[in-house]
Amino acid sequence: MEYGNPVNWYRDRLFPRLLDWAMTGESFATYRRQVLAGVSGNVLEVGFGTGLNLAYYPETVTSLTVIDPNPGMGAIAQPRIAASPLPIESQSLRGEHLPMADNTFDWVVSTWTLCSIAEPEQALREIRRVLKPGGRFVFIEHGLSPERSLQTWQNRLTPVQKRIADGCHLNRPIDILVSAVMPLESLECFYADGFPKVAGYFYRGVAVKP
Ligand SMILES: C[S@@+](CC[C@H](N)C(=O)[O-])C[C@H]1O[C@@H](n2cnc3c(N)ncnc32)[C@H](O)[C@@H]1O
Repeated sequence: MEYGNPVNWYRDRLFPRLLDWAMTGESFATYRRQVLAGVSGNVLEVGFGTGLNLAYYPETVTSLTVIDPNPGMGAIAQPRIAASPLPIESQSLRGEHLPMADNTFDWVVSTWTLCSIAEPEQALREIRRVLKPGGRFVFIEHGLSPERSLQTWQNRLTPVQKRIADGCHLNRPIDILVSAVMPLESLECFYADGFPKVAGYFYRGVAVKP
């Protein structure tokens, strides 16, 4: 990590702390618990961040592999990984290029991560590849609102959001991105209570690898 550069310092040191603070709390906890309740077996989490999902994995999970490219996220996640009863393998990787073999995982998890991945289509193809046939991709993401007036603001604000939130896009059509790669088994779209609408249109769903 090169902290002589203030951009790197912000991305790798300050932003992970801000994100950890912002994404803690009862509202996020409720969504995390709901999304992870049905997950089991050999699981991959893409965009693990600071490890805020760890507390909500059920006992049906037998092993967990987690990836994230930001070492500052990993530094905050590490004590949480050490304290978890789960066998966890953590790797500093991007979702677009996974070294795991085809048909490895029963479930892949993504929570508020598809907004930040530079090439989400490529990452989704990788997720599909590493899932076993019949394996499931479960996600909760924020993304493009169906309201035209709000879309305008989401498009306007995304360049700023990308700079202050490490590549986060406000305007991704998550349902279209996921269903282009894997059929959706379930999908709910809604404005999350207590979130600003521009970042509060949530997509929660499950896709299945045929
Ligand atoms: C908004 S945070 C969400 C973190 C975590 N999933 C959570 O629910 O708390 C987005 C995460 O995506 C990660 N990320 C960014 N680009 C990525 C990529 N190409 N592949 C995988 N993860 C990425 C970031 O480092 C960050 O940890």
